[in-house]
Formats: sequence, structure tokens, C-alpha cells
Amino acid sequence: MTNFQRYYLKLGLKQIPEEQWIDWVDALAEDDYLIIENFISDDLMHRILNYFNRQRRKDQFEKAGIGALQNHQIKRSIRGDEVYWLDEKVDSELNLIFELFRTLIDQLNAYCFLSLKDFESHLAYYPKGTFYARHLDQFKDRNNRLLSMIIYLNEKWEQGHGGELVLYPIGKSKVIIPPKGKQLVLFKSDVIEHEVLPTNVPRGSVTGWLLKQPKSVGYLLG
Ligand code: OGA
Ligand code: MN
Repeated sequence: MTNFQRYYLKLGLKQIPEEQWIDWVDALAEDDYLIIENFISDDLMHRILNYFNRQRRKDQFEKAGIGALQNHQIKRSIRGDEVYWLDEKVDSELNLIFELFRTLIDQLNAYCFLSLKDFESHLAYYPKGTFYARHLDQFKDRNNRLLSMIIYLNEKWEQGHGGELVLYPIGKSKVIIPPKGKQLVLFKSDVIEHEVLPTNVPRGSVTGWLLKQPKSVGYLLG
């Protein structure tokens, strides 16, 4: 990544007018979720996809589990995806996406009066026929996650491909979201139950959580 690209990305998000951020933040506060289409560029999606496919070929994805630490279990009847946890040091080729998460943290802290400190993220691959049953993203024994965010990598998603994300906002009707490439979905991790409907085609995303405490102390403080 050149300095120019780094700059462009930062400015790209920062240049979004203040009124736009305020609208987004208002919607998030009101609904507990926010959907932004075309949040990332084609170029960034393709960079991520390249990396995603390379890690898949190298067999770096593992079957996802449920629950933190000792409760970690694999239950195919609950979730069928495979994940590759990202590490800023190891996966430096994805610097742009890490910068984007940090910018998002800065902007949400500025406009939303939050004090987000860090993020954790993984690439997720749902093979054809898999799903993730209704759940909440906060583990019982660890409540460091404040916001969940998903950026979809499904370039040619169409009706019938399945794999929609369904959100269940408290006291409101469910919201069905097609996992369209470049789209960002943000929601409150401790409030919004959600599920991934069975997908009829392989489905990819970058999924992250914005954290109240730095990652390193998350496990200790719960
Ligand atoms: C998750 C999750 C939703 C999606 O990974 O916890 O709910 O649309 N993902 O991929
Ligand atoms: Mn989830």
C-alpha cells in the first residue's frame, strides 16, 4: 500500500460530510443498527477478496466455534461457517481494512460519544448450504463487544442466492438484509439478535467487533 492510498482511504471516510455522519449515528442510535451500501470501493473489495481466496487455498480457514475460551465448541447445527482470524501484524496486506476500522472507531467516538478502544476481526466463509442460527454476539462470559460490523464480499449476489442476514430489533419487525458486496452492516452487539439464513452459494465477509476495552485486556475484564 502506498502512502497515497493510505491517505486516500483516511480522507475518503473523513471527507464524508459531518451531516452524513450525524445521520448515520442518529439511525444507529434510533434503530440499534445501520446499513450502508457501497461502503467500500470495488478496488478495496477486490484486494480483500484476493487475500481471502489465497488464505482459503492455503487452508488457513478453520471451522468456527461458539462461546469464548473454555466454552468454545464447534456445533455444526448452530453455525456452519469457517473463519480466518485477522492479525494486524500477520495480515499486513489488509492494512487498508484495518485503517478503515480505526477510522470508523474514531468517527463513532467523535459523533456518537462512545469510547471504543479496539477491534477484532475475521474473514468468514459460508460454504453452500450453511447458516448461522439466531444468536447474540456478546458471550455470556465476556462482554467487551459493543458493535458488530460486517462488510460483505459477494460481488454478484442476487435474489435466490440466500445467505441473508436477519436482524431482530427489540420491539420491531425483523429486517432482512441481502449480503451484497461492499455493503456495511453495523449493529449493537448486546442488543440485536440475528441469524444468517442458509446460503445457496458460497458467501464471504469481513466481520469485526468494535470493543470497549483493548483486545489484550478483553479476556481478563470480561
Ligand atoms: C457472526 C454473524 C453475520 C453475517 O459472525 O457472528 O452473525 O451476516 N455474521 O455474516
Ligand atoms: Mn453474529
